[in-house]
Amino acid sequence: MTAKAGNFAPVTKKGAAYGLGIGPGEADLITLKAYKILQEADVIAYPALEDGASLARQIVAPHMPEGRTEIAIRIPMGPPADSIYDAAALEIGEHLRAGRTVAVLCEGDPFFYGSFMYLFGRLAEAGFPVQSIPGVSSMMACAAQLGAPLAAKNDVLQVIPGPLPADRLKSQLADTDAAAIIKLGRHFAKVRQVIDELGLTDRARYIERATLDSQKMVPLGELPTDATAPYFSMILIHRRGDAWK
Ligand SMILES: C[S@@+](CC[C@H](N)C(=O)[O-])C[C@H]1O[C@@H](n2cnc3c(N)ncnc32)[C@H](O)[C@@H]1O
Repeated sequence: MTAKAGNFAPVTKKGAAYGLGIGPGEADLITLKAYKILQEADVIAYPALEDGASLARQIVAPHMPEGRTEIAIRIPMGPPADSIYDAAALEIGEHLRAGRTVAVLCEGDPFFYGSFMYLFGRLAEAGFPVQSIPGVSSMMACAAQLGAPLAAKNDVLQVIPGPLPADRLKSQLADTDAAAIIKLGRHFAKVRQVIDELGLTDRARYIERATLDSQKMVPLGELPTDATAPYFSMILIHRRGDAWK
């Protein structure tokens, strides 16, 4: 992107927080609106692993403005840790009260299973102006990379989290037209078995780290049944095979 922040009329309000959808991985997949807000933000917060590594920070690295206050919100693996979001909301709230603009980086779209929603709830409840800026979600990016439209005509598309128990996965998938199974990670083998049992393996495509340099994609049937998958991976299924037929 060649535009500089100064070429735009300001889009942010002082003392407001924005959850920025920054897209699924490739730096160019950030929206123009998110880019503008990023340039204007006084404070930039992002989720990070306990060791400090942050995919969100990595995605926006080419666009990162200099000299801003950064807040790494270190989130342990597992269910959302209330105390961490409480503390982050307090810290962000202090900046907002001082009239600073805060951007919170969110991989994909903030309101599509994004952890920003936990901050959104807390900040809104405390009376701060806070807004989600939609981004290119991983589901859209995975379909595009696979060259496989998600759904067409009257197809019902389901988004199914991999951590669900096998019987729930099976009942959800039993008569689905199309599905995106997210949050695979250590649940891959269980999900794969359910798909095999339903005879959907030939209709399923696997992709990990879509749009990043480390992206990998393959028809599901070509992976060993006991393969492991990273957290940033997804299976797309279309019962009819090709949505456009
Ligand atoms: C907590 S959800 C967040 C989704 C995100 N807010 C979005 O809009 O894409 C995380 C899940 O999204 C999927 N995901 C996110 N980025 C991905 C990518 N680049 N490639 C494949 N799957 C991805 C994975 O299934 C991962 O477990």
